[in-house]
Amino acid sequence: MDELRRAGRLAADVTADHLGGVRDRPVWQPVTEADRSWLMRQDLPAAGRPLTDLVHDIRTRVLPYPMGNGHPRFFGWVNSAPSAAGVLVAPIAAALNPSCAGGDHAGVLLEHTVLRWLAELVGFPHRPGGGLLTSGASMATVVALAAARQRAVGRDGADVREEGLYGLPPMVLYVSAEGHSCLRKAAELLGLGSRHVRVVPVDGGFRMDVDALRALVTRDARAGLRPFCVAASAGTVNTGAVDALDEIADVAAAHGLWFHVDGAYGALGALASGAASAGYAGMARADSLVLDPHKWLGVPVGCGCVLWRDPALARATFSLIPAYLRDDHEDGLGWFSEYGPEQTRPFRALRTWATMSHLGRDGIIRLVGTTVRLAHTLAAMIDAAPDFELLAPVSTSIVAFRYHPVDRDDRLDDLNRRIPAIVQHRGSAFLTGTRLAGAEALRACLLNPATTEDDLVLLLDEIRGAATTATAEIHP
Ligand SMILES: Cc1ncc(COP(=O)(O)O)c(C=O)c1O
Repeated sequence: MDELRRAGRLAADVTADHLGGVRDRPVWQPVTEADRSWLMRQDLPAAGRPLTDLVHDIRTRVLPYPMGNGHPRFFGWVNSAPSAAGVLVAPIAAALNPSCAGGDHAGVLLEHTVLRWLAELVGFPHRPGGGLLTSGASMATVVALAAARQRAVGRDGADVREEGLYGLPPMVLYVSAEGHSCLRKAAELLGLGSRHVRVVPVDGGFRMDVDALRALVTRDARAGLRPFCVAASAGTVNTGAVDALDEIADVAAAHGLWFHVDGAYGALGALASGAASAGYAGMARADSLVLDPHKWLGVPVGCGCVLWRDPALARATFSLIPAYLRDDHEDGLGWFSEYGPEQTRPFRALRTWATMSHLGRDGIIRLVGTTVRLAHTLAAMIDAAPDFELLAPVSTSIVAFRYHPVDRDDRLDDLNRRIPAIVQHRGSAFLTGTRLAGAEALRACLLNPATTEDDLVLLLDEIRGAATTATAEIHP
């Protein structure tokens, strides 16, 4: 243990130095050829090596090459900086190393608390057994849609677990054109077929067009198909748009559809003050809600979550333990492994519990408020700048825009497609692009409360610099 103690102290220093110095380093930098070779092609050592040597390797070969998401000028995708509390407890979770499949131990008990906290935080009705921590939202979505499929087939008097989907009318899932790709992946994995994923058009605010949803559901039902689930978004990945959840819940209720909400990124936006949270009415009516602790909350990566209204149905979807072997303890809830596909499950709850405890409810509200404000500030800067154009209203903490110099209207797609990679290579900021309403767009996702207004000014200047390079490439 002396070796572990010594190396552990070194690892703690290396970790703190890394996190403390993030602002002074490039957001992202290319891997040198020597380090790339070491990272990808090293041989397994024949003899084992001392722990402190491993920490030195990590300091010199691994830490210089981050994805970038710890930096206050990282605005890419939806990847947050890690919470200090999450970093602190990660080694302790590894030291305990439980499987949170089930049993009577701290890992399982704490997961119940964390699930209740997450539900309470966003006002989702919670009953014990009402959720599961997962690897991320993609897996959480598979779990949620599996329960939706189970219910729909059960209502038709069949058992999908026993019979599969053979002989049943095609089941139709409704997602908006801005819905996340994990929804379609889940539909494919669950045997529904992507041909039966209806893409509902969006309105000018990139929100699901509810009239179009109604029309599609009616048309499919008339054609003998089986509409079974609508998946709305509480914070789309492209623009952060929040669908009209209450109205969509009404459509789901009227047509007997499962109402799923993808709040992987944006569910916490319900905590924002004033108009920003108004769109969330109806989220609590969902049959299933996905909400990722490893996004806005900053829990270190590997922690998604699905919450559901009916724990018994979720258990019936996955439990493979014969009744006579059930281990219900006093609570009657069984094992977490009965609520999803994973058997051995890591101790995700400790990082989430630590992050939420450290921030407290007030701290989480401040985190959301600060990042939403930063997004509005960036949008205002873009609106005021003659060479930028806002492409979507800001409803959470994502800003979608493009570079549009005053003297040019041609090849804007070409220009904006090239900008993110050039910005990334310059190393001072990191943003990513997307396509919006058929046009190339830039998007900045604000998740880090350490970001300042100066960082936003610098981001726009970096984009201008990158645009000069891109223009020279396009018009040599
Ligand atoms: C809205 C939304 N849904 C789902 C996902 C998928 O989440 P994960 O990468 O955790 O599987 C993302 C990822 O960014 C997302 O933004």
